Amino acid sequence: MSGPLRVAVIIGSTRPGRLGPAVAGWFADQAVPHDDVTIDLIDPADVAVPIGPRLEAADAFVVVTPEYNHSFPAPLKQVIDSFSVEWRAKPAAFVCYGGISGGLRAVEQLRQVFAELHVVTIRDTVSLHGVWSHVGPDGRLIEDAARSGAARAMLTRLVWWARALKTARQANPYAA
Ligand SMILES: Cc1cc2nc3c(=O)[nH]c(=O)nc-3n(C[C@H](O)[C@H](O)[C@H](O)COP(=O)(O)O)c2cc1C
Repeated sequence: MSGPLRVAVIIGSTRPGRLGPAVAGWFADQAVPHDDVTIDLIDPADVAVPIGPRLEAADAFVVVTPEYNHSFPAPLKQVIDSFSVEWRAKPAAFVCYGGISGGLRAVEQLRQVFAELHVVTIRDTVSLHGVWSHVGPDGRLIEDAARSGAARAMLTRLVWWARALKTARQANPYAA
């Protein structure tokens, strides 16, 4: 088929001291052995690099979101709302984290938002509850076989949808 898929991994938080980069970096490491995939790690806190062209070039998205007050962070909404056609007819999967909820309430709200943008959201989600307990002294996530397995399962589904939708977009450009 048409070469590796470009997966944009989007960090959902921007606050000083955030754990978003640790969680997103862990997920990117899980994806590296996947021959079919190249990862573009997008950090909204890095304002020097324009995001739009990178979203446009992506075949799929992984949104790495914490839960803030039973929802997702405002800077993530800002990124989502700043673009439109860049998202369309592509799949998005979620890695979420938080306290007791593991970020799952944030994800359920994101599904509603992405539906409006013609994005197909993937059922399989990787969730980390009590996220602080997953971070080692080096600031990286502690390896966990079950979590890595969940990431691989999610990625397999995401790749399936990314290939299917890429083929469909090429055969017949998506009209919103
Ligand atoms: C403003 C704020 C609100 C939060 N609200 C929730 C919440 O509703 N449910 C939850 O499980 N965790 C909540 N948390 C815990 C965060 O999910 C956790 O601190 C996480 O590390 C935040 O992501 P970040 O470090 O990338 O900013 C909240 C944290 C902050 C800063």
